Amino acid sequence: MSDGRITRHPILGIPKRKKVGFYWNKRRLQAYDGEVISSALFANGIHIFGHHAKDGSAQGIFCANGQCAQCMVIANGIPVKSCMTKVEENMVVESLESLPALPVTIEERHFSPLEERETDVLIIGGGPAGLSAALALGERGIDTLIVDDKDRLGGKLVLQTHKFFGSIEDCYAGTRGTDIAKILKENIQAYPSITVWLNSTAMYVFSDKKVGVVTNNTRYRIVNPKVVLNAAGAREKSLIFPGNTLPGVYGAGAFQTLVNRDLVKPAGRIFVVGGGNVGLIAAYHALQAGIDVVGIVEALPRCSGYQVHADKIKRLGVPISTSHTIMSANGEEHVESITVCEIDGDFKAVQGTEKTYACDTVLIAVGLSPVNEFFEEAKQAGVTVFVAGDAREIAEASSAIFSGKIAGLEIARELGAEEGEIPADWYKKAEILKSPPGPTEKPDYDSFPDRTITPVFHCAQEIPCNPCVSVCPKGVISIPGDSLVGRPRIENDQCIGCNKCVLVCPGLAITLVDYRQGLNNPVVSLAYELYNYEVKEGDMVLLTDYEGNPLQEAEVIEVLFNKASRKTQIVKVRVPKGIARKVAGFRVQREEATLPMAKPTAERITDDAMVCRCERVTAGEIRRWIRRGIRDLNQIKAITRAGMGACGSKTCGDLMVQLFKDEGIPVEEVTPHTIRPLFIEAPLGVFCNIS
Ligand code: FES
Repeated sequence: MSDGRITRHPILGIPKRKKVGFYWNKRRLQAYDGEVISSALFANGIHIFGHHAKDGSAQGIFCANGQCAQCMVIANGIPVKSCMTKVEENMVVESLESLPALPVTIEERHFSPLEERETDVLIIGGGPAGLSAALALGERGIDTLIVDDKDRLGGKLVLQTHKFFGSIEDCYAGTRGTDIAKILKENIQAYPSITVWLNSTAMYVFSDKKVGVVTNNTRYRIVNPKVVLNAAGAREKSLIFPGNTLPGVYGAGAFQTLVNRDLVKPAGRIFVVGGGNVGLIAAYHALQAGIDVVGIVEALPRCSGYQVHADKIKRLGVPISTSHTIMSANGEEHVESITVCEIDGDFKAVQGTEKTYACDTVLIAVGLSPVNEFFEEAKQAGVTVFVAGDAREIAEASSAIFSGKIAGLEIARELGAEEGEIPADWYKKAEILKSPPGPTEKPDYDSFPDRTITPVFHCAQEIPCNPCVSVCPKGVISIPGDSLVGRPRIENDQCIGCNKCVLVCPGLAITLVDYRQGLNNPVVSLAYELYNYEVKEGDMVLLTDYEGNPLQEAEVIEVLFNKASRKTQIVKVRVPKGIARKVAGFRVQREEATLPMAKPTAERITDDAMVCRCERVTAGEIRRWIRRGIRDLNQIKAITRAGMGACGSKTCGDLMVQLFKDEGIPVEEVTPHTIRPLFIEAPLGVFCNIS
């Protein structure tokens, strides 16, 4: 049971889990107890979950987060989202071929009364923002109910195996997301006024100010809160291109769920579309899981994610092409390759620049949309409602932690349980933590001493991050103006070579250069955490500068690793003085993994690209109606069925708005979809609590 599984990971432990047997289209397969069907299928090498009723196209996963409906299968006779439904012993799972049939029920069913629960605060979403808010409420003894649709708390933190940015005091900078999730969860357990419902999906905020919640897809309960906090996070955006719904094309978040939460190895060679933080981090997570990253394309002239993230993966050997976009994902029933091309300043393809790369997976990382429907609906119903984290504004999880803390205090004040003012500088700090990356500048290597021992900072961009300043026992490091945003600099020559800054840096962008054993051949210490690509004493490595440009080969003279090292190794190399301060990392990925195929294989035919994946409605069909003068998404829905599918237009709504923009129609002229209950699909019987 190892083929589609991760059996070794540099950061995540591989737990011993009980096996269960289930059936897939009459074939007996094995899964791990407690895992969802989609992950069990991927682990067994099955990526096609059915075929669409309209055109017979193969269907796989897209979001792995319960937000779309592409991964639907039939489990024990009932259509379910495979990414949200756990495998059970002897479960009979079948691919969804065409439309599901209604289950036949012949036995007598008993209806149970609905349970209703009062609470002071209902928090929708147990991720970084929701948990931080709950802690602030728990400290004040306020009755708080957290509902979360996953089987564990933490939200996207449980997918983040890298260290966080920000500051140590405000948002655990330098600690990995997976560890922050554990800390927050343990802290929550200390407060008896906090109740947690897991596997529980908030369905709607009704006009009588009550919120419907479905637990385990079987039990419907009504919550009657005084205050609602929407901390439901974000959903991944999709993109229009030919082949965009082929199995093997899915969201970067879905990939992180498979790899980091479920320890499934879903791919051999991935290509990432989008150079924001999500795409860059997903590429790093792929390398941690031993998966080749063939390349990354970013449509803008510069990656929109942190440059330290981009530089970190470039040093490891991942090529990033800016001003490039995807033309098509190619393959019959599954991705076999991707074709990309250069684009000009108007985002138009530059003829003759097409390149095709063999890969089995294309990750879409083109941004996130806030899950804000609960906020809007609660407001309309007259419920006192707050919003925090990505549901309020897309930003780093470190920012969500801090904005959740502020929301918790604001709610406590609203309920009269907190009299003190919220410090004004908290709001300022919240703004800083969510600020986009600032200007870039080449590291000034001459500013670092060249005759003692010194940290060297390879961060070339201002971002909110300062754990290196906090951990230095000698006060060697500072940021101008004592700010959280800025590039660190050397304050004095008192460095003792403790390596604390090297080990805490989330960007792995600090090295230590030690001239004490030879001025002309100093030793450089490099942070390294991909020890699935093992590096040991005596190995030759190709050193690179901060942006991944090769410098020269060098022999590894020592590899240090201990308990206090935050799962980060220190790899030491001895190099000539002339390059010592420039050395920032070394390659691990083979260059052959990133080379294009001999001939490009696709044309850009955007009219054929799918917009509504639930109802299989193409860009061409929708454009036709826009060009005929329709400006109302509800009319387009009535004519084409685009937006009428199982996901309730959560996946295609934004894409349709984009099509209007592409046609030169201002968004204000477009009537949006009318939102109707419920936000999430559920079996009808659930609402009668049939037992
Ligand atoms: S993609 Fe689900 S309704 Fe359009």
